[in-house]
Amino acid sequence: NQEDEKIGSVKNQLAELFGASLRVTVPDEADVEPLVAACNNNFGDYQCNNAMSLWSKIKAKKPPFRGPPKLGEAIKDNLPASEMIESVSVAGAGFVNVVLSKNWMAKSIQKMLIEGIDTWAPKRPVKRAVVDFSSPNIAKEMHVGHLRSTIIGDTLARMLEFSNVEVLRRNHVGDWGTQFGMLIEFLFEKFPNFEDATETAIGDLQAFYKASKERFDSDPAFKERAQQAVVRLQGGEVRYRQAWAQICEISRNEFYKVYQRLGIHLEEKGESFYNPYIPGVIQALTEMGLVVESEGARVINVEGHNIPLIVVKSDGGFNYASTDLTALWYRLNEEKAEWIIYVTDVGQQQHFDMFFKAAKRAGWLPEDDSSYPKTSHVGFGLVLGEDGKRFRTRSSEVVRLVDLLDEAKTQSKEELMKRGKDKEWTEEEIESTAEAVGYGAVKYADLKNNRLTNYTFSFKQMLDDKGNTAVYLQYAHARICSIIRRSGKDIEELKKTGAVELGNDYERDLALHLLRFAEVVEEACTNLLPNVLCDYVFNLSEIFSKFYDKCKVVGTDEETSRLLLCEASGVVMRKCFDLLGITPVHRL
Ligand code: ARG
Repeated sequence: NQEDEKIGSVKNQLAELFGASLRVTVPDEADVEPLVAACNNNFGDYQCNNAMSLWSKIKAKKPPFRGPPKLGEAIKDNLPASEMIESVSVAGAGFVNVVLSKNWMAKSIQKMLIEGIDTWAPKRPVKRAVVDFSSPNIAKEMHVGHLRSTIIGDTLARMLEFSNVEVLRRNHVGDWGTQFGMLIEFLFEKFPNFEDATETAIGDLQAFYKASKERFDSDPAFKERAQQAVVRLQGGEVRYRQAWAQICEISRNEFYKVYQRLGIHLEEKGESFYNPYIPGVIQALTEMGLVVESEGARVINVEGHNIPLIVVKSDGGFNYASTDLTALWYRLNEEKAEWIIYVTDVGQQQHFDMFFKAAKRAGWLPEDDSSYPKTSHVGFGLVLGEDGKRFRTRSSEVVRLVDLLDEAKTQSKEELMKRGKDKEWTEEEIESTAEAVGYGAVKYADLKNNRLTNYTFSFKQMLDDKGNTAVYLQYAHARICSIIRRSGKDIEELKKTGAVELGNDYERDLALHLLRFAEVVEEACTNLLPNVLCDYVFNLSEIFSKFYDKCKVVGTDEETSRLLLCEASGVVMRKCFDLLGITPVHRL
């Protein structure tokens, strides 16, 4: 089994060793999990922190050792021998510190260079996951909130895919609401022969939506027809279905322009897809006794909320929640997904919490959040303008995402032309570089902060080559590439014939940081926090700079080993870029 051959992160490998020690040290405590963490102190590279909590658990049983420090000593003494470890020591209240072996570190890096970074992929306990992201609404604006969802969701999907999870990337577009009655009726009115048009009649869907809304609000007869149109659409009448399909198609083309620019792959399964399954699911939930009448509607009561979850409206229609419950049922039962992740603004937290609880009541999900199958809501904060208010254009309209991305590209191109006057860019090179740098900047600016905080959208900040930005990282990466290029050495050859040696602390620090890559991805994925990976790659570029500052590479005795360290830094950095959806530039 390929999965079992994977080594796992350094942290997990050490946890296994400490697990073995704990089983010997405290044989009666079968369920203690080894607590191992990277540490930044003078005692070691990793630390096992079990002694204190374990001591309070076992002290009543009068164990042979007295107090946490002695327990720590015992954990240390029972640690199996391993080539990973240089030395072990106990400090303070029983903290067991591990210093990794330089030799082992060097060998691990070399092995990764030869066998590829995929051998450093973390393991995950699930085979298949759904990431429900982007999910804009048809005929409505795809706004910056959807851009956040698109960027965050894509990164999470990439991290899971890297961890060998099959990811169903789902675009849960809002293509099935009462707004369609209004739009269809308006289409009939404006373009009675809409079916014949070779090209779509509606040019600007935004304006079309606005105009039809005005009509809807001002003319009661129109409103009446619009409401009937919903019923006829849902009843499957051909002309209504055609009109609906045409409206969806126009929106879809707009959305996909954004996805294409950002290099994001998504599979659309919109709300309408789940519609035929809703009655059956509600029926099943009713038979379980979960669905009850309340003020004419049918609802599910869930704990911790003072309102119930409405699953059938008083007019008999279904809503956002009925669709989401049904989609969850489908994903669990038809698609056999074990982890279902939803990426939306935090404003929707209550909705998610409520239908997750309903699903638990139905027995679809275990009560305990640490077991699978499980659902996670990945919430995020607002996008603010530089004035600290909700991000808008000057005319206070919502910002068109395509325009925003164009602007990022334009500004990064200007900057590149200014800086690289001496470079002979071909037109093609400058275009692709401006895209990589500009779009990368937008993505990284979104991902680098904890997603729950609001973030301020500023081209100036995100394109600054001195801050914690994608531009800065792109330069750091391009510099690594240029060091290797300028050495004139064949790096593929060196990987096979040369050896990594960690002579001084700068080399060792860099190697240690590289070796932490797998556990960082694992943590980012477990907690669904892409900013953890951003911190890592930013630190990598800083640690690399320090190394390069102090350690001359080309023309020294250590040249081969240092070039290999440069290459390993480049490989890890590129993988980080890849996971963040950023295209690396090799020359800047
Ligand atoms: N269309 C929704 C919105 O724009 C987001 C859908 C998120 N996914 C879901 N399964 N509810 O707010």
